[in-house]
Amino acid sequence: YTVAANQIKAQVSPTMYGIFFEDINMAADGGVYAELVKNRSFEFNTALAGWQQQQKNGGAGSITVVNRSDERPENPHIIKVNVTSPVGYFGLSNEGFRGMGIKKGETYSFSVMARNPLKSKTTIVVELHSAKGQIIGKAQLIPVAIGWQKYNIKFVASATENKASLFVWLKGKGAIDLDMISLFPSHTWKNRPGGLRADLVQKLADLKPGFLRFPGGCIVEGRDLANRYQWKKSIGDIDKRENIINRWNTEFGHRLTPDYYQTFGLGFMEYFLTAEDIGATPLPILNCGMACQFNTGQLVAMDKLDPYVQDALDLIEFANGGLDTKWGKLRAELGHPKPFNLKMLGVGNEQWGEQYIERWKIFTKAIKDKYPDIKIISSVGPFAGGKEFDLLNKTFRELDADILDEHYYNGPKWFLENAKRYDNYDRKGPKIFAGEYAAQSVTTGSPDNKNTLECALAEAAFMTGLERNADVVTMASYAPLFAHVDAWQWTPDLIWFDNLRSYGTPNYYVQQLFSLNKGTDVVPLLEGTEMISGRDGCYATACLDKNKKELIIKFVNSGAKSQSVVFNIEGMDIKNQATVTSLGNTDKTIVNSLDKPKAISPVDSTLAVNGKAVKLTVESYTFKVIKLKSI
Ligand code: AHR
Repeated sequence: YTVAANQIKAQVSPTMYGIFFEDINMAADGGVYAELVKNRSFEFNTALAGWQQQQKNGGAGSITVVNRSDERPENPHIIKVNVTSPVGYFGLSNEGFRGMGIKKGETYSFSVMARNPLKSKTTIVVELHSAKGQIIGKAQLIPVAIGWQKYNIKFVASATENKASLFVWLKGKGAIDLDMISLFPSHTWKNRPGGLRADLVQKLADLKPGFLRFPGGCIVEGRDLANRYQWKKSIGDIDKRENIINRWNTEFGHRLTPDYYQTFGLGFMEYFLTAEDIGATPLPILNCGMACQFNTGQLVAMDKLDPYVQDALDLIEFANGGLDTKWGKLRAELGHPKPFNLKMLGVGNEQWGEQYIERWKIFTKAIKDKYPDIKIISSVGPFAGGKEFDLLNKTFRELDADILDEHYYNGPKWFLENAKRYDNYDRKGPKIFAGEYAAQSVTTGSPDNKNTLECALAEAAFMTGLERNADVVTMASYAPLFAHVDAWQWTPDLIWFDNLRSYGTPNYYVQQLFSLNKGTDVVPLLEGTEMISGRDGCYATACLDKNKKELIIKFVNSGAKSQSVVFNIEGMDIKNQATVTSLGNTDKTIVNSLDKPKAISPVDSTLAVNGKAVKLTVESYTFKVIKLKSI
């Protein structure tokens, strides 16, 4: 093979490899959002879902759900706990999100909104129980105020437990009103109170992503328009963020999750902050007046589209506006005077048909008139390669769209065959965002799909094609991102977790190796005059990192035979030692798991280089990244 290190073919966009975040598979509530209490504000359709009445040692009483929608339409439900017995304990327990993950020695922060209108002499006793019923943490407080007040108390857990529950006891006769019952670990990402799970955000940071796309996915669209994602309702005080039913609740999925709601504790401000923390460009996707077409497919009437468009304009002002603007000022009040430097915005997720185009045109005109530099991401639907997809593609080319969001969920074979997908693409039209993709080991939608090495290698092969065509493809992200092992609707997923642990799949490591080694400029890697894309199951790409003065070769051997390869480097003098990172195994069905999180993970080595020829063996089912330093 020849690598012409002095012939720049294309620049690699700094945003090339990024993250697709969606609250599916309990990625947000029950996942990265570190709140341990499920249904903390009693807003699920069944107001006491996740809660159970409890009594011990002769305690007695009743719990009533009170609706105060006139006073607080966005958070109407509270509970009134009447303790009728002067002895014992009466109260309720919360099961968490498939249990609560508790760590020995960690400090936990319990908080509650309470009022004591009758001035009862009642104490709130908080206990953490292990799955076997042992008390592994305890604290108490006295709610003295007649009106609503927030009470906080911290305590340290005495044991580690994956399936703990929280008991909130009331001791002493009286009547106390409660709302927003919450429990957080003190140690969160950047130790922000009420923040995000540090181990999960760290996994995102370790990808060094170019962008963070949020908040989805189909949840942008919602099951119906009333339950679409509305960013303005996801910022500010958490008790004012209106809860809705999640698009992924119950009816689609192999593990039913009737208890799947969105509290928006992870809202747009948190998304923007996380993107900033991990050095990713923020990429919000907004509802375009269409509910999920795989669900109710509700449409807003064209003459009622204005508020949706206004949401988009206001979001740009929220992200980028000065302190003299309404939404920029609000951003500052929420703690971030500096702009978030928003450059891109998605209009609709996986939408298609005439209805999408007519709504898209109105959004695009309004956004471009006011913010001509903002790039708009347009959906080309879910059916890559189908009739609808071709039609949308053609229409968006005619409409001079900026960036098209293509999605591919297919078998590994499709990914191997499509490594050449962009080699002969129209260079003059819109750029491509490979916005959602994942190789499916069984078939799309199968609950038996696994994150196998075979799938990861097929994605790596496909990504060599994305990188080789970096002049057309400017962004790419695997999807979905997260999945709770006990509460998922969709598989495969990039990162799996339970209440205490998490692991990256082989697919995660492929994403990471591409992202950490993306380079700055693509150079030709040829076999004779041909690109290496499929012969003997091999796929490759090469790029320079001008900043690090490195030549980076990515080589995928998806086949069962090992390959001896020689790269002749032209146009660059290289040092006599290369570094090689390998991800591979003789068994292509191997997966990672909570117990074996690194069964497949990258292994680093060095390679002696003689002159301009780089010789190495690429074993079967292996992806290698070879880095050569310029002299
Ligand atoms: O990634 C899971 C889902 O796949 C997304 O919500 C949707 O955009 C696509 O259909």
